[in-house]
Amino acid sequence: MNQSKTIFSGVKPSGDLTIGNYIGAISQWPEMQDKYRCIFSIVDYHAITVKYQPEELRKRILEITKIYLASGIDPKKSIIFQQSAVPEHTELAWILGCSGSYIADLKKMTQFKDKAGEKQNSVFVGLFTYPVLMAADILLYDTQAVPVGDDQKQHVELTRDIAKRFNNKYGPSFVVPEAIVRKEGARIMSLTEPIKKMSKSASNSNSYISLLDDIEVAKKKIMKAVTDSGTNIDYDSADRPALANLLTIYAQLGNRQIPRLVKDYQGKGYGEFKKDLAEIVAKFLTDFQNKFNNISNKEAQAVLESGRQQASALAQMKMEKIRKVIGVR
Ligand code: AMP
Ligand code: TRP
Repeated sequence: MNQSKTIFSGVKPSGDLTIGNYIGAISQWPEMQDKYRCIFSIVDYHAITVKYQPEELRKRILEITKIYLASGIDPKKSIIFQQSAVPEHTELAWILGCSGSYIADLKKMTQFKDKAGEKQNSVFVGLFTYPVLMAADILLYDTQAVPVGDDQKQHVELTRDIAKRFNNKYGPSFVVPEAIVRKEGARIMSLTEPIKKMSKSASNSNSYISLLDDIEVAKKKIMKAVTDSGTNIDYDSADRPALANLLTIYAQLGNRQIPRLVKDYQGKGYGEFKKDLAEIVAKFLTDFQNKFNNISNKEAQAVLESGRQQASALAQMKMEKIRKVIGVR
């Protein structure tokens, strides 16, 4: 393990995790484990910023832990932990909210604007300050790089600004992190409305494929996915976004190059392409779910406890310094 570079990322335990989450974010993580110090969190305090059921949240926390493990994240190499089990995250979020985070910047966040919609003044403060908690998650561990999907780039940019402002005021305290975003697959789109990103909170379940979807259901979703006009298989993300999205999913889950796929499907139609893609998705999900189902709750809980201890040790050390720097110790 190379201690010189720290990677941090997280997923919030709300809704069913989709192949979008997997391709855009999680699939980048396993290969980083051998090169860097990796910390992956189940960011549960981010999941309570919108309506949720406590019982469901409790279940989802273990589910995401198992998804991390089934994706190839190895607790011997990486720290896997639950955000709320390390209270320094919320402590640092408060401090960053008082030094470095401007209301004007938070108002510009696309995710806030999307989620609050017309109700910007009547949603809870937590939805608004969500990016400050995310900045705390990242800065607490002196993170250099944050592997995320395209939609989180803006939050990492904000984290950089917050870190720089804090450092200007109090002297060098935080590492200024960078986002790592895939060249292909950083934004998997909805299967029914390919101008929107695939989202686990979408109301139409045909728009996304969950990592835990029944295999036959997932295949049907691919067969029903909208396609653009035109008949040949070609990659054109501007004019044929639906097909470009399906090609991206094929390439990422089937381990193929897009130009190669385009070549292989010359002279073949959408029907054949989709049938093959449905098989690729089915094979990926079957392998994934086999691994997932082999992990017990007990095993997942033990991973979280060991992760909590490791993350806590790092977070406590960092916060002792930060408390001194800001003058409360
Ligand atoms: P969330 O479910 O919002 O906690 O997101 C977890 C991770 O998945 C983040 O890094 C997101 O950027 C990424 N992600 C979510 N949806 C997509 C998508 N449709 N395509 C690619 N990455 C995504
Ligand atoms: N905000 C991220 C999302 O919605 C989840 C998240 C919270 C996160 N804290 C983080 C991602 C820290 C990376 C690093 O997807």
